Amino acid sequence: MFRFVCIVLIAFVAVRGEDEIDNEESRPNLDSFEDEDFETEAPRADEAQDDVPSADQREKSQEELLTELDQQIEENEKQEEINDDDNEDIDKIIISPDRAPTVTLKSGREMPMLGLGTYRLGKSVYKITKEALEIGYRLIDTAKIYEAGRGETSEAAIGRAIENSGVSRDEIFIITKVMPNDFAMSKLRAAVQDSLKKLRTEYIDLLMIHYPDCGEDPSCRATGTYLEGWKNMLQLVEEGIVKDLGISNFFTEEVEKLWVEGGQRISLMQNWLDPYFQDSQTRIITTRTGIQFQAYSVLGAGWLDDGMRKNPILNDKTIKEIASKHLATPAQVVLKWAMARNIAVIPSTTNSTRLYANFNSYKLNIDEQDLKRIDGLDGKIQPLIAYGNSQQKAGGGIFTLMANIASKVKSFLGVGSAGGEL
Ligand SMILES: NC(=O)c1ccc[n+]([C@@H]2O[C@H](COP(=O)([O-])OP(=O)(O)OC[C@H]3O[C@@H](n4cnc5c(N)ncnc54)[C@H](OP(=O)(O)O)[C@@H]3O)[C@@H](O)[C@H]2O)c1
Repeated sequence: MFRFVCIVLIAFVAVRGEDEIDNEESRPNLDSFEDEDFETEAPRADEAQDDVPSADQREKSQEELLTELDQQIEENEKQEEINDDDNEDIDKIIISPDRAPTVTLKSGREMPMLGLGTYRLGKSVYKITKEALEIGYRLIDTAKIYEAGRGETSEAAIGRAIENSGVSRDEIFIITKVMPNDFAMSKLRAAVQDSLKKLRTEYIDLLMIHYPDCGEDPSCRATGTYLEGWKNMLQLVEEGIVKDLGISNFFTEEVEKLWVEGGQRISLMQNWLDPYFQDSQTRIITTRTGIQFQAYSVLGAGWLDDGMRKNPILNDKTIKEIASKHLATPAQVVLKWAMARNIAVIPSTTNSTRLYANFNSYKLNIDEQDLKRIDGLDGKIQPLIAYGNSQQKAGGGIFTLMANIASKVKSFLGVGSAGGEL
């Protein structure tokens, strides 16, 4: 196995070495350098023909070029694999029939507990999404504002990847998100129509409010309140172009308000959560209401965004100990812990070996004692930046109050345990 991992890593690093460096540089602004690459390779309209091509033709040629570039990368990688005399294991990866466990949402629809996040993938979105579908991932998380480099949006790259993957659309659960800019009905409808076109689909499995308001974002101009946006989103559910609704980065008071005034239709809550930051206040509400909780940055990327230089989660002593006991990676342990606590996960990686390993995390068997040790890591360090998360806000509404009373009674009676039951 070790030999196989080394071979895959060496092959991958050899082919992708340049890409990795590009990705590092591009993270602050994912498409900053790519337009230039594209311009130099794309057939310029004025050189290629006398007639000025229509917008549709231009879009098509750009799309074709992007697909060609992605295919070239794939071809190079396949060639590396053929040259490798130990490629049997690689074949096993490609044809894996495995599926992650699912959860039934309030709507009655099934959603995989483990999916692919695409925020940090940059120009790897197409390639990684296609590989993920081959491995067995069946949930893709994206957003209107995510970019895929080369002037392409993440949604568009995902649309191409799904179409070229050979996986039937109805097997895939797609999540995308709208910003407060799109809360007004006319804006929302246009935004969702654009997502449908880019994702090459007739419906979105779950549409999410990315942020309840614009906060400090200077590029954001809200066209309504989150409650107004929500009511408009419900209309799209009635029309059948959206199947389920969710929210992200909401404070507990906002979740409760939306739950009560928005018709109790929240299927999914996507917030930052990892072993050091377990968002217990929000999870009290989601547990009480039956809203499914989904963690973003579950592998610790939130701490790097917060200014830390080394990922504290994947380097945590307890997590590493549990990982070596199970011959697993720390990332696999974290993912399995979250799923065991009924938290859906959407890890993201630009690396094929990690993509495969992350997916297989659900097969681990971690005993309750070790799961509790990870529960106990909550609050080990505190974030510097306040995220859209309940733990930075004091108070909370009726659900929080009820849960706090229940937990005090339980602790007085000496029953139950913190964290694990949420
Ligand atoms: N709703 C929101 O506001 C919001 C905010 C943030 C994220 N999200 C969603 O949640 C998804 C996941 O969150 P995230 O990207 O912030 O964080 P994450 O999944 O916790 O971490 C991603 C990082 O971890 C590394 N990684 C992945 N697998 C690994 C492994 N097995 N071992 C070691 N390192 C590994 C990746 O690096 P390599 O690429 O080098 O492997 C990547 O930089 C996003 O892609 C996005 O879809 C939503």
